[in-house]
Amino acid sequence: MIKVGIITASDKGSKGEREDRSGAVIKEMVTKQGWEVVDYVILPDERSELASQMKQWCDTEYVDLILTTGGTGFSPRDYTPEATLDIIERNVPGIPEAMRYYSLQITPRAMLSRSVAGIRKKTLIINLPGSPKAVRENLESIIDSLAHGIGILKGSSSECAMPEKKES
Ligand code: MTE
Repeated sequence: MIKVGIITASDKGSKGEREDRSGAVIKEMVTKQGWEVVDYVILPDERSELASQMKQWCDTEYVDLILTTGGTGFSPRDYTPEATLDIIERNVPGIPEAMRYYSLQITPRAMLSRSVAGIRKKTLIINLPGSPKAVRENLESIIDSLAHGIGILKGSSSECAMPEKKES
């Protein structure tokens, strides 16, 4: 069972001025995979606050996967990628590459998301953009490969070989 923590980065959401529909989309999609959402917080777009929440969840091995939403764009308060880079030990560039590759086929504005992914201890952290639509599209492009990566990270899976295709 994969344990998931969700962090919504939103100044308005953290003050209760905006409903967090993006966090709800993440929750729906991960639950459908059979994973457990063990925690969910809405934080303001403060780099140090976001970083310290992620660090705490990683260092206590509280969750296997942290999915953030919001703060990946160009607004002066968008600092989620920097907060993530502040605390990760290993970069995982393929995940945001895959999300942008997939998303660019839907909208050219996908290039505007600065999302990153990385590993601290045994936790994988992935940034998703802020809108519910973007969350759904980005997460659907990677979700099927995550369990394998998390299995390797936790030491419960080591076999990468895919079943061979039969020659016709
Ligand atoms: N990716 C997908 N798949 N679909 C989208 O609609 N929106 C883009 C981009 N990625 C989008 C997307 C837009 S318009 C922006 S500004 C960036 O994500 C950053 O979003 P954020 O600032 O809400 O994190």
